[in-house]
Amino acid sequence: MRIAVYPGSFDPITNGHVDIIERASRVFDKVIVGVLRNRNKEPLFSASERVKLAELATEHLENVSVESFDGLLVEFARQHKAAVIIKGLRTVNDFEYEFQMALLNKSLDSECETMFMMTNSKYSYISSSMVKELAEYKGNLEGIVPSQIIQYIKDKYEH
Ligand code: PNS
Repeated sequence: MRIAVYPGSFDPITNGHVDIIERASRVFDKVIVGVLRNRNKEPLFSASERVKLAELATEHLENVSVESFDGLLVEFARQHKAAVIIKGLRTVNDFEYEFQMALLNKSLDSECETMFMMTNSKYSYISSSMVKELAEYKGNLEGIVPSQIIQYIKDKYEH
């Protein structure tokens, strides 16, 4: 069984993320979306909210599950018997950081492969931080995040 993990903060999940997950789910038998629980910067959504939104966004994909994790990504991958870490690349700006992370993860676990998928050009300009800024200023989120999570994001900024 070919298992991959797709890690991130997912604060919140976007259509760019979902596109990568859909494509990875066609290549791997199982894809585990790993939502990083603790980060230095305070996320807008709690870990359980981010898991819930990612679950809603991927409920049409049978071989995809969502879990939160803490600590090292290579440990999370090992626990789930995933030999592959999937990462999406949007622009060259993403490359340097991702390249460094991939090399670091490889040095931590030589069995662990990072595979990069190019973002769909439709979504190359989308990021979770852009989504939050748009939502804060009441911009239209249609086509940018999955329609089933739009209301949850709007609700965050209602008060
Ligand atoms: O969506 P993001 O914030 O770009 O995702 C970053 C993520 C979760 C992939 C990265 O921060 C990560 O892998 N964190 C887990 C800790 C870890 O293994 N760090 C690398 C070795 S120090």
